Amino acid sequence: MAGRAAATAILALGASYVILKQLKYRGRKDRSRLLLKDTMRLPRFVEPRRYDIELMPNLDTCKFDGKVAVRLEIVDKTNHIVLNAADLNIYEKSVSLRTSATRQVVWPTRIELVKDDEILILTFEEILPLGDALLSMDFQGTLNDQMKGFYRSVYTVGGVKKNMATTQFEPADARRCFPCWDEPAYKATFKLTVHVPLDRVVLSNMPVASEAVIGPKKSVFFEESPKMSTYLVAVVVGEFDFIETETEDGKLVRVYTEVGKKEQGRFALDVALKTLPFYTKYFGTAYPLPKLDMIAIPDFAAGAMENYGLVTYREATLLIDEVHSTAANKQRVAVVVAHELAHMWFGNLVTMEWWTHLWLNEGFATWVSYLAVDYLFPEWRIWTQFVDQTVEAFRLDGLVESHPIEVEVGHVREIDEIFDAISYKKGASIIRMLQTYLTPDVFQKGLSEYIKRFAYKNAATGDLWSVLSEVSGEPVGELMNSWTSQKGFPVISAKVHGKATFVELKQSQFLSSGVDGKGEWVVPVTVAVGSYKISGSYLVRGKISTIELPASSSESSDGENEAPSWIKLNVGQTGFYRVQYDEDLAKRLRSAIASGSIEATDRFGILEDTYALSAACKQPLNVLLSLMEVYKNESDYTVLSCLIDVSYRVQQVVNDALPAAVPDTKKFICSLFQTAAKKLGWDPIPGESHLDAMLRGEVLSALISSGDEEAIAEAKHRFHTYLNDRKTSLFPADIRVAGYKAVIQGVKASDRSDYDSLLTLYRESDLSQEKNRILGTIAASTDPVMVREALDFLLSPEVRSQDSIWILSGIGLEGRDASWTWLSENWDTIWGRYGDTVSLIARFISRIVSQFSSYEKADEIEAFFTKNSYPAIDRTVSQSIERVRIMAQWVKHVHQESDVTDLVKKLAAGGKASPETGE
Ligand code: BES
Ligand code: ZN
Repeated sequence: MAGRAAATAILALGASYVILKQLKYRGRKDRSRLLLKDTMRLPRFVEPRRYDIELMPNLDTCKFDGKVAVRLEIVDKTNHIVLNAADLNIYEKSVSLRTSATRQVVWPTRIELVKDDEILILTFEEILPLGDALLSMDFQGTLNDQMKGFYRSVYTVGGVKKNMATTQFEPADARRCFPCWDEPAYKATFKLTVHVPLDRVVLSNMPVASEAVIGPKKSVFFEESPKMSTYLVAVVVGEFDFIETETEDGKLVRVYTEVGKKEQGRFALDVALKTLPFYTKYFGTAYPLPKLDMIAIPDFAAGAMENYGLVTYREATLLIDEVHSTAANKQRVAVVVAHELAHMWFGNLVTMEWWTHLWLNEGFATWVSYLAVDYLFPEWRIWTQFVDQTVEAFRLDGLVESHPIEVEVGHVREIDEIFDAISYKKGASIIRMLQTYLTPDVFQKGLSEYIKRFAYKNAATGDLWSVLSEVSGEPVGELMNSWTSQKGFPVISAKVHGKATFVELKQSQFLSSGVDGKGEWVVPVTVAVGSYKISGSYLVRGKISTIELPASSSESSDGENEAPSWIKLNVGQTGFYRVQYDEDLAKRLRSAIASGSIEATDRFGILEDTYALSAACKQPLNVLLSLMEVYKNESDYTVLSCLIDVSYRVQQVVNDALPAAVPDTKKFICSLFQTAAKKLGWDPIPGESHLDAMLRGEVLSALISSGDEEAIAEAKHRFHTYLNDRKTSLFPADIRVAGYKAVIQGVKASDRSDYDSLLTLYRESDLSQEKNRILGTIAASTDPVMVREALDFLLSPEVRSQDSIWILSGIGLEGRDASWTWLSENWDTIWGRYGDTVSLIARFISRIVSQFSSYEKADEIEAFFTKNSYPAIDRTVSQSIERVRIMAQWVKHVHQESDVTDLVKKLAAGGKASPETGE
C-alpha cells in the first residue's frame, strides 16, 4: 500500500463505494449504516472490544512504527471489515484475522486505503463467522508538524532544540496514529505499550503496569483502560519534571512541565485536587481512573484536551508564574482545568453518540466549570462573569450564517468547525437557563442519574432530556427542542400601559442585522418588579403574550394600583434572550441603575441589550450613548468590562460614520472610566480583590486606546523604567498589556525603538503568557508599515503556529487595511501553513475581516474568498462577511443620525443627557 500512486487511490475510491453499496443490502436494518457520502459513518458489521497497541516513535527521524491487535466482535454477516486509517503505511502482509469460531487465521484478499474517506477496507474471500475475532496489523506513520494525530512538538533544553512526541486525537485523528474505529460510539478498552529511549518519560491514559529495559531503550507497558472512545486515547513522550499530590479517595494527581518549571504547575495541581472531589460529589460518581496527569505541551492547537487520565494543555492554560502571570491568567487556568476535568465525567464516561451532539460535551463542560470555579473561588464572582459566555454566543447566533446547536455532520472535516461559540457558549447558556428553570437541586439529581445510567456508554441530546423530565416531572424535551434544533434566539419586547399590572410581551427572532427572523421559542421569562424580592416566572410561547406581574408589587397598602418603580426581565441574565423595553420602562430602569437598585448582572444585561439593539439599527445610537453615561460610577468588574467593550464598538462606528465626532467621543469614553481608574490606580493595592487586579489593566487599556494623555504618559514612563530595570515594582504583570499598548500605539517606522524593545522582551521571556501579551499588542501601531512588520514577524520561525493568532488580536482600526492587504498577498503561504488547523485559520479570517464596515469591502472580501474557497472555512468566511455588512449598515444609519454629534459634544463636556428622553 505504501507509495501507491494517486490515480490508483481514485480508482480505489470508486470501487469502494460499489463494495459498500453491496454491503448495504446484506446487513440487518439497524446495522446497515454505511459510509456513504450522506452519513459518513462506518458500517456496523464489526465492533471493536479491546485494542492492544504498540508504538515505537523515533524522535530523530520523526517516524513511528506501530502494531495493533484488535479484539472484535463480528455482529453481522459480512466479508468486509471497514475501519479508519489515515496517513499510515500499512504492511499488507501483516494484516490477518483470527476468528474464534474456526480458530483459523485468514488473510484479506484485498486491502484498500481510501484516502479521501480515511478508511481501510479489508475484503475476505469468505463470509466471516459471527463472534469474536482478532484483527492484527503492522504499520508506519510520521510524527507530523500539524498538531494532530501523533505529532512532534519542539522544546528547548539548555539552548538545544529537541523533539517530543504527543497526541491530539479529537475529533477524528486517532486514525493517524493507529487503524481503528474512530467514532465516539465505538467504545473499547485500550492497552498500550510504548518503546522509547531510556532517558525519556512516557505517559498515557493509564498508569504504567511494568517496564522492561532492552539496551538503550525501554518498553513501557500501560494498564488496560476502561471502555472509552478512540478520540480520548493519548500518549506523550519527552523529558519532563512533575509535582504530585493525592485526592482524599486515593487518586494520584500530577502536573508535568518542562524540566525546571515544575513549580509553575502548583496552582493547577491545587485546582485539580479540589475539583475532582467536587465533581465526584456533584455527579454522584467517583473519578473513574486510578490517576490523573496534566501536562503542558509547547505546540498545541486547542487550549486544552481532555484525554482520559492524561489531560494536555497549552503552557499558557496550565502554568502560573508567581511574578509574571496575571490575575486573568490565573482565572483562565482555573477555568480550563475545571472544564477539562468536567469532561472526565461529561464526555469521557458518558460520551456523545455522534458529533451532532458535541454540544453535550462542550456546553456542559463549559457550564460545569463555572460551578467548580465558583466553589473554589467564590470571591471571583464567576457566575456574574458567565454573562460573557451568553453574549459571545449571541454575537454568533445573531447571524443568518449561524447554525443550530444540534448540527448535521457529514464529512469529518466538518467537525472541527462546530467547536464554536454555539456548541460551547450557547450550549452552556441554555443549560444555565434550564438549571434555573428546574432549580439547582432537581437539575443536579437529573444529571447524576444521567451519568449513572449512561456510564461507559454513549448518549444523545434526547437521552439527557428524558432523564431530566423523569426526575423533574417537567416537559424538558418540549422546552429545550426549540433551543437546540433551530438556530438563533428571541428578543422579547416588553410594553406596559401606565399603572397596569399586565406586561405585554412580544417575541421575535433577534438578528444582528435588525431584520425580524421567523424563529419562535418556548421562553422561560423571569421578571423582578421594583425589588429583587418580588419576582415572577412564566413560560412564554407564541408571538404575543401578556403576563400578570406579581400581585404585591402593583398594589400600595390601601389597595390602589401603583406603577412599580422598575421592571426588569430576564432577572440575573439567566435566559438566552434579549429584551427590548418600551421607552417608559427603559427610563425607569435608567433611574434605577443611577440610584443603585439594579444588580450587576442586570446592569450588564441592560447595557448589552441596548448596545445590540442599537448596532442592529433598532434604536438610535443616542439612546445607547445616554445609557452609557449612567454607568460612569460603575465599579463591578463584569459590567465595566462590558462598558469597555461597548465603548470600543462605539468608537469604531463613530470613526467610520462621523469622523468629525471622534475626538468628543473619545473624550466622553475616557470620562466614563475616570472613577474606576482613580480608585484602582497603577499599583496593586495590598489585599485587593482578584477582580480589581483584573480590572486595573482593562480600565487602563481602555483609557490608553481612547487617547487619555495622562494614562499614556504614565504607561510609557513605567514601560521604560522596566526596560532599564527588570526588577522594578512599577510594571507588574497586570498592567503590562496597557503599557505595551501605550508604547506601540505611538511607534512609527521612523521611530521604532519601542517596537524593537518590545521584541527584545519577547525574546527574553520564556513564559508563554508573557510572550502572548507582547504578541497581542505588537500589531497595534497606528502606522501601517509597522503593522505589516508585526504581521511578517508572525510568519517567522520565532512565533509558534499556535500563537500566531495573538498578533492578529492586536490589530486596530488603523491597521485594518494593511492587514487585509497582507492576508490577501500572503494567502497561499498562510493557507499552506495553517490551513490544516481550522481553529487557527478561522481566526486569521475572522479577526482581519471583521474590522471592516463598508459594503464595498464586503464585496471585495467575498470575491476573494470565492476564488479561494475551501469547505473547512466556508462557515467562517460567510459569518465574517455577514458581520461586515451588518457593521456597514450601522455606519450608514449613524451617519444619518444628525443629533449624535451634538450629544457626544455635550457628554464630552460633562453634560448629562436629558433624563426625560434619555437623549
Ligand atoms: N475538547 C476540547 C478540545 C478540542 C477543541 C479538541 C477543538 C478538538 C477540537 C477541550 O475540552 C476544550 O474545550 N478546550 C477549550 C478550553 C475550554 C476551557 C473552553 C479550548 O481548547 O479552547
Ligand atoms: Zn471541552
